[in-house]
Amino acid sequence: MTAQILPGNADSIPAAVTVLRQGGLVAMPTETVYGLAANAADNSAVARIYAAKGRPQFNPLIAHVSSMDMARREGVFHANARILAETFWPGPLTVVVEVAATGSVSDLARAGLDSIALRMPRHPVAGQLIEAFGGPVVAPSANPSGKISPTLPEHVLKDIGDEVDLILDGGACAVGVESTIIDARGDRPALLRPGSLDTAEIENIWPGLIRPTLNPDAPQSPGQLLRHYAPDAKLRLNAKAPKTDEAYLGFGPVEATVNLSPTSDLTEAAANLFAMLRDLDTRFERIAVAPIPTKGLGEAINDRLTRAAK
Ligand code: TXA
Ligand code: MG
Repeated sequence: MTAQILPGNADSIPAAVTVLRQGGLVAMPTETVYGLAANAADNSAVARIYAAKGRPQFNPLIAHVSSMDMARREGVFHANARILAETFWPGPLTVVVEVAATGSVSDLARAGLDSIALRMPRHPVAGQLIEAFGGPVVAPSANPSGKISPTLPEHVLKDIGDEVDLILDGGACAVGVESTIIDARGDRPALLRPGSLDTAEIENIWPGLIRPTLNPDAPQSPGQLLRHYAPDAKLRLNAKAPKTDEAYLGFGPVEATVNLSPTSDLTEAAANLFAMLRDLDTRFERIAVAPIPTKGLGEAINDRLTRAAK
């Protein structure tokens, strides 16, 4: 059965809450990418997410909250986690903390870990849905595991439309790259996944932010798995020009098949990244990608591209 699609506004929230209460799946817009949302406390709903994504069971999910009270019921907020939440929530930041004794998120969603990843999204539709539902909603990116994250409702419909009960159409995601994930459990916060919150902003608070080396064999956050963001096409990075059999994903004032940002704007490039990769992937077997600076959002963009190229 193909998903029902409703406009992403307040009128659609009651129907979406009903789907969640019945153990169904709702594709919800967030400011980063579309999430595949389910009742975090409902193991079988969570299992449906894993099935829909074809996701390895050891990949834990982010629980999305709509208030600090809700977050505190789920996770233990020591000073570092509290500072991060107060500074950057609602927004594209996920904090990993110890699970609270009062936590309601299912074991399956936490992949059996005694930690939990929490995020308060800034997108009003996501916020309203979680608030009206009254509890945390787990939501991985709404794509099949190992594929590109969806930034448009059409992506969700095409890739997993048969597995989703309802899609809330919020149009294009404003940011287009997943949240930054910080492990805030220890004395010094550690970066688990670069994302759309610029790590420089976090380093303004903690110049000593730990950046673990990415180890594909023992990932701390399965977001670090090297094949996590993989198109079918073969990618060649840092290409100043395409070869004759390659499409060219440009950046800056260059001639290209499609261009992430002709004006070299990294924010625009991040917002275009997944949709353009996806478009080229359906049309070409080889994609050359222009060099992209590693400053600011460029760090997350290069991280995604490096994984996609493996
Ligand atoms: O922007 C985002 O974060 C999007 C939107 C929908 O919120 N969500 C998203 O979820 O990217 P997902 O499931 O595609 O990625 C979640 C990442 C995975 O890399 C997972 O391993 C990591 O969060 N994660 C979840 N719980 C964790 C934990 N307890 N410890 C370490 N990493 C964790
Ligand atoms: Mg994902």
